[in-house]
Amino acid sequence: MSSTRAAAESASAAVYVADVHKSFGDVQALRGVSFAAERGTVLGILGPNGAGKTTTIKVLSTLLRPDSGTAFVAGHDVVRDPAAVRRAIMMTGQNAALDQNLSGRANLEFFGRLMGLDRKDARKRADELLELFDLAVPGRRPVGSYSGGMRRRVDLACGLVVRPEVIFLDEPTTGLDPRSRQSVWHLISRLKDEGITVLLTTQYLEEVDLLSDKIIVIDGGTVISEGTADELKARTGGTFCEVVPRDPAQLGAVVQALGDLIPQALRDEAVALGDRVSIPAADGSETMAEVLRRIHTNGIAIADVALRRPSLDDVFLTLTGHPGTHS
Ligand SMILES: Nc1ncnc2c1ncn2[C@@H]1O[C@H](COP(=O)(O)OP(=O)(O)O)[C@@H](O)[C@H]1O
Ligand SMILES: [Mg+2]
Repeated sequence: MSSTRAAAESASAAVYVADVHKSFGDVQALRGVSFAAERGTVLGILGPNGAGKTTTIKVLSTLLRPDSGTAFVAGHDVVRDPAAVRRAIMMTGQNAALDQNLSGRANLEFFGRLMGLDRKDARKRADELLELFDLAVPGRRPVGSYSGGMRRRVDLACGLVVRPEVIFLDEPTTGLDPRSRQSVWHLISRLKDEGITVLLTTQYLEEVDLLSDKIIVIDGGTVISEGTADELKARTGGTFCEVVPRDPAQLGAVVQALGDLIPQALRDEAVALGDRVSIPAADGSETMAEVLRRIHTNGIAIADVALRRPSLDDVFLTLTGHPGTHS
């Protein structure tokens, strides 16, 4: 890319990252990460534990200085103008700075005052956010008494007191119950509707599939693939055949029975995900017929067998050589 084009892109994209490296002693956490996120979009950053997701987010939010490479957020250089970056972003996620003794409402009001709202506006905004996050009633109790999910919602709400240009959500749904997770998903769509750019890291494949305009897959400190969910699936190619044994204890037996139908590269990995075994079906219905014949010969009772397009699980397995985390 020419330097003029890079300059233009760094100014127009909400987030622009080029060849960022970051090491901790001997550990190379980022080995040349590059990507861009358009304004008003949701970028999903998908990767297993230790991939470099949090390090990337910390560099972009100016909590860590990159060893080399460049990164711009809302048009500001994270190294040269970190103060401008901080004004344009909101950070939430793994470390909430909530006062446990104050109510959710008082915490939000406090954040509002801190961001320069007068008392009346701060209180009004606090009440709007409590409503949005379904916290109107518990909002009156001290944060110290909240469940993990409620605390997470207050944490997110605090960052929204003043509308940021870019929001970083570092595994916002990890450890949440399904209901709280849904409300975070709902919120992310709202943020997008408001024109805010969201960078969302996750280990949950279905989460990025559902919410992201674009996905980057990170593993070992580099971007190993990027595109829309559909593009990633198309790149993985072909059809998959899925077998669900009636008794989940028979998953191993299914793997045994399929034998050489499972590609060598996947043989040592858990091709059994959840309640099913999933294999590439290069010959479509012919592969399925062969699968059924082998299952039958081995006397395994099955609940379901189907051909389907690749899921993001397959994408993840194909790209990284190990299965993703399931919610
Ligand atoms: N402060 C640190 N000191 C030493 N190693 C670190 C530090 N932070 C992260 N790492 C290492 O850098 C790699 C990437 O970590 P991280 O960015 O937290 O990954 P992720 O968020 O994708 O799980 C891992 O190998 C991790 O152990
Ligand atoms: Mg992390």
